[in-house]
Amino acid sequence: MIDFEKELQDRTRLVNEAIEKFLPDEEGPQKTILSACNYSVRNGGKRLRPIFMECAYRLSGGWDMEKLYPLMTALEMIHSSSLVHDDLPCMDNDELRRGKPSTWARFGVDMGTLAGDGLMIYAFETGLKSELPEDVRLRAIRILAEKSGIFGMIGGQTVDVELTGSIPDPDTLRFIYEKKTGALIEAALMMGAVCAGAGEETVELMERIGRDIGLAFQIRDDILDVISTSSELGKSAHADDRNAKITWVTFYGLEQSEKDVRRFTDRAIENLASIGEDEFFEELLRQLIDRSF
Ligand code: IPE
Ligand code: IPE
Ligand code: MG
Ligand code: MG
Ligand code: MG
Repeated sequence: MIDFEKELQDRTRLVNEAIEKFLPDEEGPQKTILSACNYSVRNGGKRLRPIFMECAYRLSGGWDMEKLYPLMTALEMIHSSSLVHDDLPCMDNDELRRGKPSTWARFGVDMGTLAGDGLMIYAFETGLKSELPEDVRLRAIRILAEKSGIFGMIGGQTVDVELTGSIPDPDTLRFIYEKKTGALIEAALMMGAVCAGAGEETVELMERIGRDIGLAFQIRDDILDVISTSSELGKSAHADDRNAKITWVTFYGLEQSEKDVRRFTDRAIENLASIGEDEFFEELLRQLIDRSF
């Protein structure tokens, strides 16, 4: 049996070390944006998307972590950029992120906006540094682009922002969740599989598993927004209520939302088992069901 806590700590540390290697030096006339980018990526996220990528990579037979690190970092840069923009005054207007002032609160709205843009582009420069074979690297980068962009995360954020204050129908609510949060988790699993040389069928299954993990993850995020505190979360609690967001919790209620987190996670674990056995990955998903931050 694995020592889950230790394994999670080790993997998180390795991701942090890998990310650190790819951050730009903060020098030159544009050093403000470089500092703002580094501040946004550095300040202590859970690093779940790179960890998911590693799990999918190993589960699909991958072993050469050095070649995966640039792509793990790229995904975390995109995720961080989505948080930087999500916190802007014109979006969720949040001043606290990962236990510190959000990027715009620290660097101003102008630099906050540019840091989000900068990170999003620098993610691709970073991912392309991977020494995986050209065709594999491009396949992975293509997934990253599609899942981050207007047909992925940004598409979801668009509908989320546009429908703030009104009541979406269930299909639209689901669309928002699958895109704004699900898409980058789908990317994590699909990229991991692709980098290990998995075939189309496995990659498609990874996409479905990522969608379920993403749904569960965002619903738990909504639950925490209601039941937790800002100091526990490292970001503002009750932000959804303040912003008049219709979330899974306001739509279906707390009890049903908790059941849904479990249901989507169970389905993800079941599908993962059909690819292979990974005790750490399964335990991680179970722990996320009632995570506290
Ligand atoms: C927060 O994601 C935004 C959502 C998609 C719910 P995380 O909870 O993974 O945030 P960090 O990276 O750990 O700060
Ligand atoms: C965030 O949803 C999704 C993305 C940032 C893409 P939320 O707005 O609920 O995320 P938090 O709660 O601010 O982290
Ligand atoms: Mg938001
Ligand atoms: Mg937000
Ligand atoms: Mg939230």
